Amino acid sequence: MILKPCLVLGLVGFFPLAQAYPKWFVARQTTAGSSQATATTSASASASEPPVVSYATSAPHTPFSGTALVTGALNASSVGTNITSQPVSPAATTYPSNGQLQNPEPAPYVPAGGVGTNGTTPTYNAKSDFDYESLALALYQEYIELDLFRDGLARFSDAEFKAAGLNAEDRYLIQFMAQQEVGHATMLTNILGANAPKQCTYNYPYTTVAEFLDFCQKLTRFGESGVYGFLAHLDSREAATLLTQSITTEARQQMIFRQFEGLFPMPVWFEVGIPQSWAWTLLAPFISSCPENQTRLAWENFPALWILNQPNPARVNASAGFNETLGPGINALNSTKVTGSAACINNTTPGSSCSPAITNNRTIPLSYPGRRVWFQWESPGKPVGPNNSYVTTSSAGTPKYVAWVTQLNVTYSSLTVSNNSSIGWTTQPSLDTYAGDPAINGTMFVAITDDDIYLTPFNISLINPHVVAGPAIYQAG
Ligand SMILES: *[C@@H]1O[C@H](CO)[C@@H](O)[C@H](O)[C@H]1NC(C)=O
Ligand SMILES: *[C@@H]1O[C@H](CO)[C@@H](O)[C@H](O)[C@H]1NC(C)=O
Ligand SMILES: *[C@@H]1O[C@H](CO)[C@@H](O)[C@H](O)[C@H]1NC(C)=O
Ligand SMILES: *[C@@H]1O[C@H](CO)[C@@H](O)[C@H](O)[C@H]1NC(C)=O
Ligand SMILES: *[C@@H]1O[C@H](CO)[C@@H](O)[C@H](O)[C@H]1NC(C)=O
Ligand SMILES: *[C@@H]1O[C@H](CO)[C@@H](O)[C@H](O)[C@H]1NC(C)=O
Ligand SMILES: *[C@@H]1O[C@H](CO)[C@@H](O)[C@H](O)[C@H]1NC(C)=O
Ligand SMILES: *[C@@H]1O[C@H](CO)[C@@H](O)[C@H](O)[C@H]1NC(C)=O
Ligand SMILES: *[C@@H]1O[C@H](CO)[C@@H](O)[C@H](O)[C@H]1NC(C)=O
Ligand SMILES: *[C@@H]1O[C@H](CO)[C@@H](O)[C@H](O)[C@H]1NC(C)=O
Ligand SMILES: *[C@@H]1O[C@H](CO)[C@@H](O)[C@H](O)[C@H]1NC(C)=O
Ligand SMILES: *[C@@H]1O[C@H](CO)[C@@H](O)[C@H](O)[C@H]1NC(C)=O
Repeated sequence: MILKPCLVLGLVGFFPLAQAYPKWFVARQTTAGSSQATATTSASASASEPPVVSYATSAPHTPFSGTALVTGALNASSVGTNITSQPVSPAATTYPSNGQLQNPEPAPYVPAGGVGTNGTTPTYNAKSDFDYESLALALYQEYIELDLFRDGLARFSDAEFKAAGLNAEDRYLIQFMAQQEVGHATMLTNILGANAPKQCTYNYPYTTVAEFLDFCQKLTRFGESGVYGFLAHLDSREAATLLTQSITTEARQQMIFRQFEGLFPMPVWFEVGIPQSWAWTLLAPFISSCPENQTRLAWENFPALWILNQPNPARVNASAGFNETLGPGINALNSTKVTGSAACINNTTPGSSCSPAITNNRTIPLSYPGRRVWFQWESPGKPVGPNNSYVTTSSAGTPKYVAWVTQLNVTYSSLTVSNNSSIGWTTQPSLDTYAGDPAINGTMFVAITDDDIYLTPFNISLINPHVVAGPAIYQAG
């Protein structure tokens, strides 16, 4: 479906209204307000029913076997080699924060300041390369989720879902999540316009319902965290507003998949944000091919990272699993070797069950401070992603640290590299984000780095030049 630019803005402009206001209100706005909007919704009954993107309902799920026409990330000429850390801007600390109004109010009840608050009619478009590339990445993510949720429902029988503790209502919830992705993909397509990336074909490693649920739980984690990493940096506050309203839905999906696999639903006080290149590194390996002329992305693909003793949520003692993932990066659980009393599904010992539940308190935690964690990583130069057309790269030096990216923190532990130069271990650190909130918990991110630079959530992308391999998703809790 090709959307004309005026149509794009018209649709987007009215999308939030359709969400928040009763139908009669939207109808009045569309007829009185804008000829663009009425043009898109000619039949009166469809005044509040803007069209959605087209998507495949049955696509193959096989690896790509052809040859890439183009390779490497989308790029332009570069004016520098890296972004360097700069001192605090003096203007950043001048507001007195004394609880008093410092300036005249533009109108009664309207405190001065803010961005986009002066009444200018919003335009929900990309306003920079940063915006376009970030939103296009988010669109690639929405499309894989749309396909993924449908694929799980198509691939496994009702009986297989039932054995995993999920009934028809639960399956309908997954189906509804796929429908939410149709909406998210449509919104992002409307923002980006005619060259927005299209739906691709995908290839997933899971073979059981437990593996599917864990794969979804982890994929939605980087979907959500990938957006938090860039949301506040967008030039387009308008697009950021709409994206916030979709990513909050994604956050709910992530939590529901945790509940489906019997994990504690939200073991952290803050949800972490990661750089775009981290989300793209985790996502790209599951895209087989994209349509001809697909709009490419400018983000980096880092070398793959395995967590050899990734905690396996299908086990009563999650930490006991070794080499039990479906591959690097997302490091989703492999349920094949988890049998008998080692399995937590339907386990009747208190604190040992991982059957679907609103909440579950595990007697044996998935991970713990002081745990020795083993890694294996790849060298750069491997083709990955759609049509094998992207190539893994790293500008980092020698591997020295493991970066633990979780909640509001980036913390490092030293890496001991074994004789085999691509295997090493570290010790899981112990830190609280705030007192009473163990920072390393939930579904979080690790990477191998060459340095331990100090970073906070708003400048976390400065880690990228130091990434040797990763990220990988660590199932900390
Ligand atoms: C883009 O990257 C490729 C290598 O992947 C390089 O050959 C090319 O010169 C780059 N283009 C620009 C404009 O920097
Ligand atoms: C980063 O850029 C600065 C100049 O902006 C340069 O001095 C420095 O060597 C660069 N570092 C790397 C690792 O390329
Ligand atoms: C309102 O703010 C926008 C930026 O958000 C600015 O471009 C525009 O000039 C402002 N309009 C007026 C009338 O001040
Ligand atoms: C778990 O228990 C449910 C409900 O009793 C049952 O339907 C299902 O088959 C059991 N699953 C396994 C793997 O034993
Ligand atoms: C993770 O959070 C859960 C739930 O709050 C808590 O029981 C557990 O102790 C935490 N894990 C660690 C490693 O602190
Ligand atoms: C990727 O490969 C498929 C199948 O060979 C092909 O139809 C498609 O045009 C390719 N996409 C791109 C962007 O080259
Ligand atoms: C891809 O782009 C080429 C060159 O612009 C064009 O001739 C071709 O029709 C496009 N293919 C599709 C499927 O849009
Ligand atoms: C869980 O497994 C780990 C690794 O095999 C082992 O060190 C630990 O003692 C086990 N914990 C319990 C409570 O069995
Ligand atoms: C992990 O298991 C795979 C087979 O599933 C095997 O190819 C690989 O060598 C194993 N890795 C390690 C470090 O044992
Ligand atoms: C899952 O584990 C089994 C048993 O070790 C292994 O045969 C299989 O290859 C693994 N699956 C993947 C996708 O690595
Ligand atoms: C949940 O687990 C924690 C940590 O093991 C424990 O302190 C707490 O008492 C448990 N809560 C319940 C209700 O079992
Ligand atoms: C973790 O983040 C909090 C909140 O920004 C900060 O106060 C604390 O110092 C950080 N801890 C570490 C070890 O970096």
